[in-house]
Amino acid sequence: MKIELRSQYPAKLIGLPGGMLELSWKVFGAKAGETQTAYEIQSALDSEFTVELKSDQAKSSNSQFIKAPHIPSVSREISFHRVRIETQSGWSDWSETFTHETGLLNGEELIGHAIGDESKATDPAALLRTTFTVTKPVAKARLYATAHGTYDVMINGAKAGDHILAPGWTPYQHRLLVDSHDVTNHLVEGENAFGVLLTDGWYRGKMSFFNLTDNYGEHTSFLGQIEIDYEDGTREVIASDSNWKTATGGVRFASIYDGTTMDFTMAQPAWCKPGFDDSAWSPVTLRKISKSVLEPLSAPPVRVKAELPMTLRQEADRVNLDGTQNISGWVRLTVDGKRGDKVVVRHAEILLPNKTLHTAPLRGAKATDTYILGKDGVQDLEPKHTFHGFQYADVITDAKVIKAVAIAITSDNEDRGVFKSSHQLLNKLHSNVLWSLYDNYVSIPTDCPQRDERLGWTGDAQAFIYAANTLVNENAFFRSWLKDLALEQHENGKVPHVVPDVLELQYPRLPHGNPFPDNGAAGWGDAAVVIPWAQYQSFGDVEILRNQLHSMRGWVDFFSAQCVDNVFADGQMQLGDWLDPDAPEDKPFLAKVSSRFVASVYIAQSARLLAKSEELVGTKDNAAKYHKLADDVAQATWNLLGAEARKSTSGCSLTLEFNICPESEREAVASELAALVRKDKGAISTGFLGTPVIMDAMSRNGHFEEAYSMLLREEIRSWLYPITVGATTIWERWEAIKPDGSVSDGGIGGETEGTEPGMISFNHYAYGAVIDWVYRNVAGLTSLAPGYEQVSIAPRPTKSIEWAKASIETGYGEYGIDWKLDGSKLHAKVTVPFGVQAKLNLPVSQGSTILVNGEAKLNGEVLGHGVFDIDVTHAHVVSK
Ligand code: BGC
Repeated sequence: MKIELRSQYPAKLIGLPGGMLELSWKVFGAKAGETQTAYEIQSALDSEFTVELKSDQAKSSNSQFIKAPHIPSVSREISFHRVRIETQSGWSDWSETFTHETGLLNGEELIGHAIGDESKATDPAALLRTTFTVTKPVAKARLYATAHGTYDVMINGAKAGDHILAPGWTPYQHRLLVDSHDVTNHLVEGENAFGVLLTDGWYRGKMSFFNLTDNYGEHTSFLGQIEIDYEDGTREVIASDSNWKTATGGVRFASIYDGTTMDFTMAQPAWCKPGFDDSAWSPVTLRKISKSVLEPLSAPPVRVKAELPMTLRQEADRVNLDGTQNISGWVRLTVDGKRGDKVVVRHAEILLPNKTLHTAPLRGAKATDTYILGKDGVQDLEPKHTFHGFQYADVITDAKVIKAVAIAITSDNEDRGVFKSSHQLLNKLHSNVLWSLYDNYVSIPTDCPQRDERLGWTGDAQAFIYAANTLVNENAFFRSWLKDLALEQHENGKVPHVVPDVLELQYPRLPHGNPFPDNGAAGWGDAAVVIPWAQYQSFGDVEILRNQLHSMRGWVDFFSAQCVDNVFADGQMQLGDWLDPDAPEDKPFLAKVSSRFVASVYIAQSARLLAKSEELVGTKDNAAKYHKLADDVAQATWNLLGAEARKSTSGCSLTLEFNICPESEREAVASELAALVRKDKGAISTGFLGTPVIMDAMSRNGHFEEAYSMLLREEIRSWLYPITVGATTIWERWEAIKPDGSVSDGGIGGETEGTEPGMISFNHYAYGAVIDWVYRNVAGLTSLAPGYEQVSIAPRPTKSIEWAKASIETGYGEYGIDWKLDGSKLHAKVTVPFGVQAKLNLPVSQGSTILVNGEAKLNGEVLGHGVFDIDVTHAHVVSK
């Protein structure tokens, strides 16, 4: 038996927060029928467990988010943890040892000063440097660093760590993250150089469609230190302080939206190496970073996800590059040129029919990297501290372009879901959704990666959360972002549209103030409730509910207070079922279903989820109060707006999925929904809020035929149509490119001073929410209890799909299926991890028999862990 142990934090991070350490384990190699009857966890301060701190034994089958007996509360502490379990065969051996290292738990332990230069926004990047001498053998060395701005720490010429755009984007006035790295191997005996490249980043750079700089402050600065523990037991700290020096180098400009300008004739190549003469450099300027808002990084940082070779096409005046995948990142270009040659790289998501870059949708984001070569010959070029949303790029230069690689970045969440089937377009849809996730999870969950937004739109994150949970393990990522959501929540409970709320910082600087006055938006503010609940469902993480409970209550109380007679008050500006394809192009909030209905049913739904959360981690009285609120709002809304709602697909779908109508009317509403879908031949007619629920609204109420007709439709207004015209990610609008090749100009926008028109991105994940349905219904991998502790085996085959193979890496291990149809016989190989019970829910018809490993079984019977061969005769196959 082998036991794998992990904590709530990403595996590769050190320098983590103190406080409760939650351990989860996977068990491999247990015998059939064996279950966990007890566990024992040991914590120690040495890897041999000779100095045992504490141990805990419990008669329990639980294995997820279990508190370690030792609660790390000391900075820099390395603690060791292991678990063993008791089964019917007795106690197992100890698991492999899990190591946890805390960072600096008190911001004051960063003993230095924040340092910067005299630059203003858009000025050349600051280089900062100091040197120090190592004279004795080093046991270990750590770097702790943060900044107002984005930074790279360079030690002796090499970058410390692989984090990109550190310290990431948080509401810096409330919370600023400190990255920690093991830099032991960077140090050399003798002189060492400690350098920092510091740019505007999210802190001072241009942000939002208002394209304003200096959002969090006018000065960038760096705060950090290298701590060296010598073998003789002494410690030395080299911290940022007034002794450092500053200058500028080759990075003349770096902006997240606009790209970089790098002039290598001005570079100081050895600036971060020992022995460099910095006598011409200036003293640094001392700045202020509040140490009380510092906190160790606890979520995956942005890292490189993939390197995709690009094809080169020579045009008359430029070379066009195609990475074959829409990504977030940049181009690594290899050119052969002469000192002084200029190289300009522009980026776009698509080519127009005349094969030129379509840059209009980027609006205020210039997305252009410019280089001046500093030497003759072959050289690699890469920008600094920027990213672009693109598949194509143009290079204009006198130098010869030899090679180009698209570097894709993402917040480094572990992959979780794998899906393949005999249906090529469906496979591509899966890939497109996954790429939209990678491209849009860049430090925070964003709306799109290319134009002058890339903001943490709460509604987009909410609409997509269940799909995200199935595709990747982003629990730590969302724990961190939800913390920011709560910090940005107004005192009255209002949740901003974007988190971090950079818009709120900009409004006072706009001549017109806030042009979008709002009282919170249904489906957007509800991220405060829906996301914690989704994390609990998908990971079994109760702690996230505990952490967010106050924020959840705040939103529900605030938003529901706007009801009159238990229905959301009329006449308020709402985003509604945003981007309903039948809404006017320039008024995406004018969906078929009224925004009043949408707001009311979201109140009912969030009140319900909050009530359930109260049952788990809150109070009984609150649970009863919010259940009653949910009931009252559902009933009043149905009475007042039900007739109107059932005329639209989103109205019916939200009614069914949020339990708005009385039980007695469900069947009728579902039939009306199915009829609407049949009438439109499966064409999609829902926006951001209807789309994530429509497939379940059909399939859970017996309308699989219509559900599949929608899923597999290839004509315009469908998930698969964009693929037929080349999409590699999910579009913002269903009709972004028409069958005749014409491209939507994105209607809305530009009316407000300072903004540019057009809202058309080819990389918005909201509509990709459907992929969760695909896992649960096409593959048949469905969770029945939080964290997949109980699952069902429930494929719903259709004639158009001969086989499907999928797996989800749950906290217990891999839960997978590989099924194929042979006429009306279904054969499936199913993997159920240890600790999980799987209920049979196979697609039977009259006369079906079910064999599991050759033994007759019935639907509803439960399997333990193992690998099972399942055969179903006379399987029910949907005829689409
Ligand atoms: C964003 C959306 C967002 C919406 C709400 C857009 O500009 O890209 O995804 O949710 O605004 O107003």
